[in-house]
Amino acid sequence: MSAEKEVAGSQSSAASSGEAPGLDTGVAHSARVHDYWLGGKENYAADRAAGDAVIAAYPGIVMSVRANRAFLARVVRFLAAEAGIRQFLDIGTGIPSANNTHEVAQAVAPDARVVYVDYDPVVLAHARALLDSSPEGATDYIDADFRNYDAILEQAARTLDFSQPVAVMLIALLHLIGDQDDPYGIVSALMAAVPSGSYLTLSQVASDIQAEQMAEARQRYNSMARETQRHRTHAEVARFFTGLELLPPGLVPVQQWRPGSDFEAQAKSAMWGGVARKP
Ligand SMILES: C[S@@+](CC[C@H](N)C(=O)[O-])C[C@H]1O[C@@H](n2cnc3c(N)ncnc32)[C@H](O)[C@@H]1O
Repeated sequence: MSAEKEVAGSQSSAASSGEAPGLDTGVAHSARVHDYWLGGKENYAADRAAGDAVIAAYPGIVMSVRANRAFLARVVRFLAAEAGIRQFLDIGTGIPSANNTHEVAQAVAPDARVVYVDYDPVVLAHARALLDSSPEGATDYIDADFRNYDAILEQAARTLDFSQPVAVMLIALLHLIGDQDDPYGIVSALMAAVPSGSYLTLSQVASDIQAEQMAEARQRYNSMARETQRHRTHAEVARFFTGLELLPPGLVPVQQWRPGSDFEAQAKSAMWGGVARKP
C-alpha cells in the first residue's frame, strides 16, 4: 500500500499534539528521505530528489545512515542487556525499518516498554508496526513534535513509569532541530524528568567529519526539504551530555561505538554518537 493511502486509512490510536506537519508529498521530509537512503518504499519523488542531491555531494550518506541504524541496535541491546534498562523513549523514531527499538529491546528483555514519538504523518501511518509488542512488554506511539516535550512526557506516562530509569533516545534527530528551538534546553528538560540511573543516547550529523562534502550536502538538502539541517561539531554535540556520565568509548563516529565486528567498525559515517548515564 502506498504511503498516501496508508495515511488516509490509518487507524492508529496515537494521540496528536496538533503540531505534526501535514502530508505534503511535493517537499522532501526527513523521515521519507531517510527511508529512501535505507532502501525503503515509503518515499516520493521530492524525497528521492533531495536524497540524490545529498548522495551527489556526499556519496557516503547511504553507508552513514546504515551505520547509524546499526548504532541504534547496538545501543538498545547494550542498554537492555548490560545496563538493565526496561523503559525506552525513542523520539524521532522514523519510518519502521529493520531492528526497531522494541524488537531489539524485547529480544533481550520481553518485559521492555517502549514509547515512540515522531511528528511525520507517514510514520504515524505505519505506527501499527511499532505497536507489535511482546505480551510481557508494552509499546505506544505518540504523534508529537520534539519541541513540545511537555506533551511528550505527559503522554509517555501512560506507558512509562518515570520513577524508574528510562533511556531517552534521540537517534539522528538533533540535526533537524535548529539552535533557535533551544535543543540543549529541551534535552536538559527531558533528562530532568527521568530519575538517576536513566540514560541519554543520541546521534547527530557532524559538521567536522568530511566537512566540505557535508557542507555541500547540507546546502543542497536545505534548499529542497521541509526541515533544514543544523550539523554540529564534536564539541557542540558533546554539550548535549552536560551533567551526565558519558560511557566509554565516549562521543565517537557511530560505527566506532562498541562495534560488534571489524566489519561494523570499518563502516564510514559523518555522525557523532554516544551514550551517557544520569548520575
Ligand atoms: C533521520 S530520521 C531518524 C530515524 C531513526 N531515529 C533512525 O535513526 O533510524 C529523523 C526522524 O525524526 C523525525 N523528526 C524530525 N523533527 C522532529 C520533531 N521536531 N519532532 C518529532 N520528530 C521529528 C522525522 O520525522 C524523522 O522520522
